[in-house]
Amino acid sequence: MNVYDGERMGELLGEKGLAPAPEGEDADLVVLNTCHIREKAAEKIYSDIGRLTKGKTQKKAPMIAVAGCVAQAEGEEIMTRAPAVSMVVGPQAYHRLPDMLDKAVRGERSTDTDMPAIAKFDSLPKRRRSSPNAFLTVQEGCDKFCTYCVVPYTRGAEISRPFSHLVDEAQKLVEAGAREITLLGQNVNAWGGEDDAGRAVGLAGLIHVIAKIDGLERIRYTTSHPNDMDDALIAAHGEVDKLMPYLHLPVQSGNDRVLKAMNRSHTAEGYLKLLERFREVRPDIALSGDFIVGFPGETDAEFEDTLKLVDEVRYAQAYSFKYSPRPGTPAATMDDQIPQEVMEERLARLQDRLSRDQLAFNEATIGQECDVLVERKGKRDGQWLGKSPWLQSVWFEGEAQIGDMVRVDLIEGRPSSIRGELI
Ligand code: 5AD
Ligand code: SF4
Repeated sequence: MNVYDGERMGELLGEKGLAPAPEGEDADLVVLNTCHIREKAAEKIYSDIGRLTKGKTQKKAPMIAVAGCVAQAEGEEIMTRAPAVSMVVGPQAYHRLPDMLDKAVRGERSTDTDMPAIAKFDSLPKRRRSSPNAFLTVQEGCDKFCTYCVVPYTRGAEISRPFSHLVDEAQKLVEAGAREITLLGQNVNAWGGEDDAGRAVGLAGLIHVIAKIDGLERIRYTTSHPNDMDDALIAAHGEVDKLMPYLHLPVQSGNDRVLKAMNRSHTAEGYLKLLERFREVRPDIALSGDFIVGFPGETDAEFEDTLKLVDEVRYAQAYSFKYSPRPGTPAATMDDQIPQEVMEERLARLQDRLSRDQLAFNEATIGQECDVLVERKGKRDGQWLGKSPWLQSVWFEGEAQIGDMVRVDLIEGRPSSIRGELI
């Protein structure tokens, strides 16, 4: 979602006559679009500001804006701690960046962390440029309040953008060159709206309509919550050819006591049953998830349940993290915080299994041919990188261009990529 927000901020500033600084050249303005999800991500901003002001990144110190969820969470604190920053703007207020820039040029520093969600989208310019694989935010915010998570505080309450605006933005993205669209939301499957006839639609309904856009070839969505899954979305995976066989469905833990303490309101078994239903309609679906190890109070036996769940699912790919206490969340003040070395050991064990499964998934696709959407040049001349339907990174050599959909034989499975041959 930060990539999407970054593109939109770029478009807004483009309307004011600014253009991206070419690689290797000094920028007049640097927007640090930040993440607050874990401590490590949040800390980066102060070292980045330091490097920019001390001339380590570029010759001339630029004007600095801090955007994103650290801006939302820390607001004025950033202004006090970092005098070099002229603008602090939260993720729901960045449509006001152009006005803030006018002020900054006059020497006035400003902070805007308001949350008028819909107003933001209404005041953004129409999409005119797009990469072949575009992002489209359909839903923002979260009402789930998992006890470890800052998102409900930094991104605010769940809101859905209106149906007609989304169909219009998708159309514009395709006209601007998108061949794949990933629908985005912190709880993307909680999206809801009304279609043109006033009928209630959920994410599946939106996918069915967007799939009718000529020139669009692939649809993806992320991230989903198990509790917001409905029959229509599961069914869509068997009905809509353009909907790719990939599902990112975070589980966080395989133990029911831990899940309850996390306020996840689903059980491990409920989650597994849900995945089964996806596999019934789309047997080749690539499954992905998120995991947290070392949530306060997690015992060795409870962690073993997470490994068991992984063994049962056999993820195609997954993200896993050490628990990171976030200020203001209930879990940060829970007893029994787990020592770093225990978390590290658990994370290493979990990641071992996840890598084993990822390699196995990649190897199992060898021998097939599939479409690859070319996204960028590879490291060597004549090398290209793109994505398979299962979101694997595939590289190959030959004649191609960014944005091409090419047929490729999958030749060799590696831990996090696949070597292919152009057909
Ligand atoms: N500590 C570690 N991981 C976290 N996540 C969210 N909050 C935390 C935290 N406090 C992870 C979850 C979520 C992903 C986006 O980040 O796994 O699904
Ligand atoms: Fe955070 Fe996701 Fe839980 Fe919402 S559902 S609180 S975004 S982990």
